[in-house]
Amino acid sequence: MSHTGEPRPMSAVPGATLNGSAEIPGDKSVSHRSLIFGAMAVGETKVTGLLEGADVLDTAKAMRALGAEVIRHGQGEWSIHGVGVGGFSEPADVIDCGNSGTGVRLLMGTVATHGFATTFTGDASLRSRPMGRVTDPLALFGAVAHGRSGGRLPLTLVGAANPAPVRYKVPVPSAQVKSAVLLAGLNAPGDTIVEEIEATRDHTERMLRGFGAQVETDGLVITLKGQPELKPQVIAVPRDPSSAAFPVCAALICEGSDVLVPGIGLNPTRAGLYTTLREMGADLTFENAREEGGEPVADLRARFGPLKGIEVPPERAASMIDEYPILSVVAALAEGVTVMHGVKELRVKESDRIDAMARGLEACGVRVEETEDSFTVHGMGGKVPGGATVGTRLDHRIAMSFFCLGMATQKPVRIDDATVVETSFPNFLPLMEKLGASFRRHND
Ligand code: S3P
Repeated sequence: MSHTGEPRPMSAVPGATLNGSAEIPGDKSVSHRSLIFGAMAVGETKVTGLLEGADVLDTAKAMRALGAEVIRHGQGEWSIHGVGVGGFSEPADVIDCGNSGTGVRLLMGTVATHGFATTFTGDASLRSRPMGRVTDPLALFGAVAHGRSGGRLPLTLVGAANPAPVRYKVPVPSAQVKSAVLLAGLNAPGDTIVEEIEATRDHTERMLRGFGAQVETDGLVITLKGQPELKPQVIAVPRDPSSAAFPVCAALICEGSDVLVPGIGLNPTRAGLYTTLREMGADLTFENAREEGGEPVADLRARFGPLKGIEVPPERAASMIDEYPILSVVAALAEGVTVMHGVKELRVKESDRIDAMARGLEACGVRVEETEDSFTVHGMGGKVPGGATVGTRLDHRIAMSFFCLGMATQKPVRIDDATVVETSFPNFLPLMEKLGASFRRHND
């Protein structure tokens, strides 16, 4: 299954040793938000290091469709001429968000308090994902959603012409839902208040403050003063910790490896994987810790060494929600059992990631157990048989995780479609090759 066109089956050649330094692309979450907030500011926002993955490019197209001028000047270098809060105009066509849950949910929030209709769609993965978690709170502003059964895409959202501010407690730990409500609140008069049940990534709050909005955080309660004038910014997007996770984890499991990934964003709401890896005994160091563009960053150095299974506590889930697929791979190669608790949100990502990892690891000879909310991997101390084909289910992180597994298995692991990595990490294969990995393309 491919997003568009023919699927491309590939495998990594086992026995890789990774060495050297790699430049990870820009953070996906920050890139989406840079485009959206830039489009809502008055004047020109300049962005460097923007991730040019398919998801973010779809958001750039959407901002143009809503009336902002979005220009690419060179690799990662973009400018956005914003139309001001409340200044979007009705799009002439359906907005296709491709594979991107973040894109569509943030955009729904954005248009929910504009008095026109927008129709959203996406690829087969996105069309199967729940949107009620966003359209329910947006209805409190006065927006009306007409979607397919279960609130799924394609969906038309008729925004509120005279929105009222909202107080909403988000029932699931989701930065996308929190952000959608805050984005809608931008064009409502008065205070919009969002309460979380667990702290999730706070890029929206940080960036909105940077753009001059009044956003206050008191524990798990966030208060936004509506209808601010957003001031254009110069944004240097930090490198994505969720993408860095793949070369870092591959280095930890491939014998003899020593890899440096400079300038990785280590916002505490995103860095749970790195805490977990250290608890597993990983030889992982943070060098040159500093702040860039309002976010903490450091150079990460990962070296191969023995790893042990651990219990990953549920309260850490939000800070590493995108990293469980690659953690499951590390767990399969570690000595002993790893239990991941509180992970049911993985079931509604680009794929049901517990099921996708469980079936793929089993096919490669790894024992796993799952409940609705937990995932257990029985580590094989470096000796995973492999020798299977895994289904990537239109999910970039599942594809990259099994590519990394296949670098360290006894027999190759075949990935049914490599094209899906385009979503978040378009240069994944050449970057890994530069570090020492090799890949084979299958033409059958
Ligand atoms: C994101 C939030 C998370 C994450 C996604 C990016 C964001 O989703 O999985 O990759 O940028 O806000 P949820 O909000 O569904 O947890």
